Amino acid sequence: MVESEALWREALYGPSGFFTRGEVPADHFRTAPLVGPELAEALLVLLDRVDFALGRPDRLDFVDVGAGGGELSATVRSLASGSLAARLVVTAVDLGPARSLPGVRWTSALPSSVCGLLVGHEWLDAVPCPLVTGPASHPWLDRWWPVRPGDRAEVGAPRDAAWADAVSRVRGAALAVDYGHVLADRAAGRYASGTFAAYREGRRVTPVFDGSCDLTAHVALDACAAAAGGDWVLVSQRDALAALGLVGRAPAGGPDWLAAAARASRIAELRAEGGLGSFGWLLHGVGVPVSSLLPPLPPWQP
Ligand SMILES: C[S@@+](CC[C@H](N)C(=O)[O-])C[C@H]1O[C@@H](n2cnc3c(N)ncnc32)[C@H](O)[C@@H]1O
Repeated sequence: MVESEALWREALYGPSGFFTRGEVPADHFRTAPLVGPELAEALLVLLDRVDFALGRPDRLDFVDVGAGGGELSATVRSLASGSLAARLVVTAVDLGPARSLPGVRWTSALPSSVCGLLVGHEWLDAVPCPLVTGPASHPWLDRWWPVRPGDRAEVGAPRDAAWADAVSRVRGAALAVDYGHVLADRAAGRYASGTFAAYREGRRVTPVFDGSCDLTAHVALDACAAAAGGDWVLVSQRDALAALGLVGRAPAGGPDWLAAAARASRIAELRAEGGLGSFGWLLHGVGVPVSSLLPPLPPWQP
């Protein structure tokens, strides 16, 4: 069980691992920061709410953990305006090679403290964890993923620990965005085959631990929420983006209709049910009530 986690870690983050050598999502799969600037726009609305709740401090952090190619960090930096722009410090954190992006600090380790917003966008699905086939016994499985004989599952404990550690460094808010599942669906056997998967150059491929492909698994975001604790909500990206003002109605006409139509289609992609819109947003308020950041929304149903 532990061996599979070590193999996965080596394949992604060992000396010649997939991410260590600088592979980025843009070359293998599509993530929301690659769709266009709209995700960053929405996160700047959220960041402004965090900033207000913190009393507009002299320095405000935006920390992008698992930054990949750094697209989200770069867009947040370039779209920030007004008094926020002058106080904003954007930090990209990734285990892969450092990238040079204007106005973005790049580091391989999480900052010891964050005052502002920390975002893990498709970070936790890339955190290796033990792979099991039932019958299997583990305290995490007992609590979060009942496994029957022949079922496959991933033990989410390393993701829980990574998320709890990240949230513990924050004053303001921490947001994990990822594909995943919740206990009710796991217990009902909806994921009995497990979710461990591999991708290379836009295709799903058979997982191998040789560093030739991205290895990933859905995230038990409800377990991550409980591990980090405090004040949190778990909602869909579709609802969260609307609550941050990103609705994207098709334009009726006018001189900029083409640009407006393109924007509306990007927003539709970000909010698509069964696609990016069905991703979970796990938002923790730390020293800030989460109710001051998002209005009440339905619970996430992946
Ligand atoms: C699936 S990619 C997501 C990239 C980007 N956030 C996006 O959505 O396009 C996951 C990234 O997380 C990084 N990563 C995984 N564990 C990490 C850790 N402990 N600290 C920093 N980066 C990590 C990997 O190197 C990889 O670049």
